[in-house]
Amino acid sequence: MKQEYDVIIIGAGPGGYVAAIRCAQLGLKTACIDKWLDQNNKPRLGGTCLNVGCIPSKALLESSELYHQSECDLTLHGIDVKGISLNLKQMMDRKEAVVNNLTLGIESLFKANKIDWFQGCATIVNNSDIPNKQTTIKNVNVALHNNKTITLNAANIIIATGSSPVNLSIAPIDNKNIVDSSGALAFDKVPKTLGIIGAGVIGLELGSVWKRLGSKVKIFEAQDTFLSIADQLIAKESLKQFFNQGLDICLSTRLLAAQSKKNSVTIKYQDSDGEHSETFEKLIVAVGRRPNSEGLFEDETELVIDEGCFFHVNDHCETSLPGIYAIGDTVRGPMLAHKGSEEGLMVAELIAGHHREVNYKLIPSVVYTYPEIAWVGKTEQALKAAGIDYNIGTFPFAASGRAQAVNKTTGMVKIISHAKTDRILGVHIIGAQASEMIAQAVIAMELGASSEDIALTMFAHPTFSEAFHEAALSVSGNALHIAQRKK
Ligand code: FAD
Ligand code: NAI
Repeated sequence: MKQEYDVIIIGAGPGGYVAAIRCAQLGLKTACIDKWLDQNNKPRLGGTCLNVGCIPSKALLESSELYHQSECDLTLHGIDVKGISLNLKQMMDRKEAVVNNLTLGIESLFKANKIDWFQGCATIVNNSDIPNKQTTIKNVNVALHNNKTITLNAANIIIATGSSPVNLSIAPIDNKNIVDSSGALAFDKVPKTLGIIGAGVIGLELGSVWKRLGSKVKIFEAQDTFLSIADQLIAKESLKQFFNQGLDICLSTRLLAAQSKKNSVTIKYQDSDGEHSETFEKLIVAVGRRPNSEGLFEDETELVIDEGCFFHVNDHCETSLPGIYAIGDTVRGPMLAHKGSEEGLMVAELIAGHHREVNYKLIPSVVYTYPEIAWVGKTEQALKAAGIDYNIGTFPFAASGRAQAVNKTTGMVKIISHAKTDRILGVHIIGAQASEMIAQAVIAMELGASSEDIALTMFAHPTFSEAFHEAALSVSGNALHIAQRKK
């Protein structure tokens, strides 16, 4: 059986499904192939993000924060609640319902946009022996979940196959005691003790979830710098806050071995004091993710692969083979859902003959812990290293009326602007609602705003966003609600 498409998209995560919708909107005949099966072997759209990533983790972060607040914070507000107890099954069921709802939403969007969804594993058939590859129609074989195989063809292919957790050979995942992020989103009881390898985004978010629900959590990080990708003022403040919450984060530690037993895991690790051994009920391995780039081509391919197994692409996500694009976690740049979606939109527009670019300089990052950590643009350490002169403005949430009213006074906003032009180069936030506030910074920076532009803008009172305004005022020494010497 052969079918003809304008575009075949392999992978229906936030890169692939968004590309598919945009291609269809632009009038391209579109097929999207995805091999995802849920725990009941039911095909599901949405990829890592919807099924085992962004969405379920944020559902559990919200539920666990509510549980933590009702246990610890409500009395401060004069609300005495007795008999708070945890119903983990209900919490997990709610998370699953959210995931289900959103994946079904994509299914209906596919139907509404007349996108053909093929449920199975795709491999690209090499056409390297055909001259004039520019016009070559490409073939994709699909091993369908119903055991049939079909071949589809199209002028363009978008690879959006995502990524998978990096495995450590000394701590192999057994999905019993040693788990990756997917396993850690589905524990059926709260582990009394939880070890986590890697103090990156997953380690911090999932460590927070289980800490709030009652686990004693210890995180082991190989690097000596905490959150090295974030601005170090913010990273240091966050480390202090996590420490106050009881999250035990050990830097400069090297995992030597992990042994899974009947109901526990014993790890051996090394730090500056020597070798140690410790036992946990569960161990999460969260040491990064690697692109799903292997086994996608039937035979050897001429496609150029970068270090780290990423598909080599240019700024327009074109691979070294004409008509084959790669997006999302399979290519350079941060592994973030919104980055993949923007690349999907760009490639769809390019295939349809339009112009579109992704501004790789302004990709916002968020860590959804409490306090939240969010940033966009350059860090102070990066500017220093590049020899660029800058000014800084900061404002603490402790001085914000709204933050005091809601009892969320932890953290600050930091704005870095160019010393000569005052153009904003980076915004770094730690605090409640940082994930929402960072969008203001992205918009301002997209429009080339200076810190003075923000200082001259009116912000509603009382809001967390006023801290962004005050940080902008503070760049020139004019913050109102903190004592500041004029610069
Ligand atoms: P994916 O979402 O991984 O989708 C790839 C799809 O391709 C999958 O459905 C897979 O089944 C399919 N596929 C692979 N190979 C084939 C094949 N040969 N044939 C057919 N189908 C195939 N990012 C954020 O921006 N914000 C967050 O809050 C956030 N939280 C996260 C939390 C966790 C626990 C994890 C693990 C990740 C999180 N991420 C977050 C990262 C985010 O999930 C990824 O960056 C994003 O999903 C990547 O999108 P993608 O479309 O490139 O790939
Ligand atoms: P990560 O790259 O964020 O962090 C991995 C950490 O593990 C690093 O700090 C690294 O130094 C450390 N590490 C590596 N090997 C180690 C070892 N042997 N022993 C101890 N520490 C070791 O990767 P993570 O947390 O697995 O997340 C993967 C990706 O998923 C992230 O990079 C991010 O792109 C995405 N993600 C995004 C989220 C968000 O946007 N809020 C949430 C969760 C994941």
